[in-house]
Formats: sequence, structure tokens, C-alpha cells
Amino acid sequence: MKKIAIMGAMREEIEPLLSKVTNIKMTQYANNTYYEATYKDKELVIAYSKIGKVFSTLTATILIEKFGCELLLFSGVAGAISSELGIGDLIIADGLCQHDLDITAFGHPHGFVPEGEVCISTDIYLRNVAKQVAKAKNLKLIEGIIATGDQFVACSERKNWIGDTFKADALEMEGASVAVVCNALEIPFFILRAISDSADGSADVDFDTFLASSAKISADFILDMVEAIE
Ligand code: ADE
Repeated sequence: MKKIAIMGAMREEIEPLLSKVTNIKMTQYANNTYYEATYKDKELVIAYSKIGKVFSTLTATILIEKFGCELLLFSGVAGAISSELGIGDLIIADGLCQHDLDITAFGHPHGFVPEGEVCISTDIYLRNVAKQVAKAKNLKLIEGIIATGDQFVACSERKNWIGDTFKADALEMEGASVAVVCNALEIPFFILRAISDSADGSADVDFDTFLASSAKISADFILDMVEAIE
């Protein structure tokens, strides 16, 4: 059975996981805490990275290279771009891009650097597991592009630009960097987010209000997926 990494960006995003797993062993490494644990006979390593692309790159790499994880699931919250997504709704990424990566001065498209790609796809098997779980639980699950950047978006103009430029349905601050790591190291990965805000003028207040409840919706779904993964 494969060892599964589950990561979030913030403590609130992994706390609902830690309350449901057993045999927790904590390891301090590289200014962070890694929690080895079991859930329904599956071996897990859980960690939150801290916010942003750099910290999430570091944590994803350590989960794979130091702890030997062979699959990676990300659980957390996101700002909605698509009008189909309301607070607490779940979105799975079919692809992830970096909305703040910009060398357009040299004629490249937004989100692109030479030898990279604008959009990195997630694992199809894990997406199918998510769809089965959603169906069994009668939960709404949207699939779409998630845009990542080192920026909390709280402005309709920026949000609409990201939506138009990348055809993105939601935005957050870690998914695409985790995608770069997993893609390079050939680790199947999956990014799930529950909506905490609409990335507009009220995003800051909504985020604080709905972070814990939306993080729990995402974490509960991830544990159902862990059970279903073969
Ligand atoms: N994660 C949740 N909401 C977000 C927002 N509005 N901007 C960036 N990341 C987010």
C-alpha cells in the first residue's frame, strides 16, 4: 500500500485531519512539524507548509524525498472565481497555473517560463476517486482550473483578470507550486479546495469567517478519499 502525503497550507487546514487519525508520531524537520499517522490501515504523513508557493514547495519536496510519500493530496480553502462556486463548495483541480509568474516582457504568455508549462494536470485516477466519493455522498463537486499566486486576492478586477487569462475557476496560494514538485518527481497528486470567499472586496472578512468551516469540509472529503484509494 502506498504511503500518502496530505498537506495543507495553514494549521486550520490540517487540524480536522489530525483529530481523526491514529498512531501519530511527530517529527520536527526544516522549521516544520510532520505527523506520521494511520487512517483505516493507510499510512499517512500530514503537514501544513505555511502560506505561499515557496513554503509549499519545500513541504511537498520533504514529504516526498524525506518521508517517502508516493501520493500527495492537498486539502484547503480557496477564493471562488466561477459564479457556480459558493462558500463551502468543493472544487478539484484538473490543472494548476501560476497567475503571478510573468515574463511577458520577453513575449511569453502569462504563467509560462521556458521548459515549463502554463498548466500542470493532476492525476486522473485520484480525480476519479474524488468523483466516486462525491457521488456516494451526494456532494456537489466542481472540476476546473485553479490559479495560484503569492497574493491574497481581495479585488474583483484582479480576480476577473485571473479568470479571463487562465480560464480559472478558483484561486489560492499553493496548488501550482505543489504541482511543479509532484510533476518533476513523478508523484501522482490531487488538489482539493473548499471555497472560503469570493476573492473580492469582502474576501478578507469572509476568509476569517469561513476558513475553519470550509477547511473541515475539504479535510473530511480527503479522508473519505484516503479510504477509497486502492
Ligand atoms: N485562499 C482562500 N481565499 C483566497 C484568496 N482570496 N486569495 C488567495 N488565496 C486564497
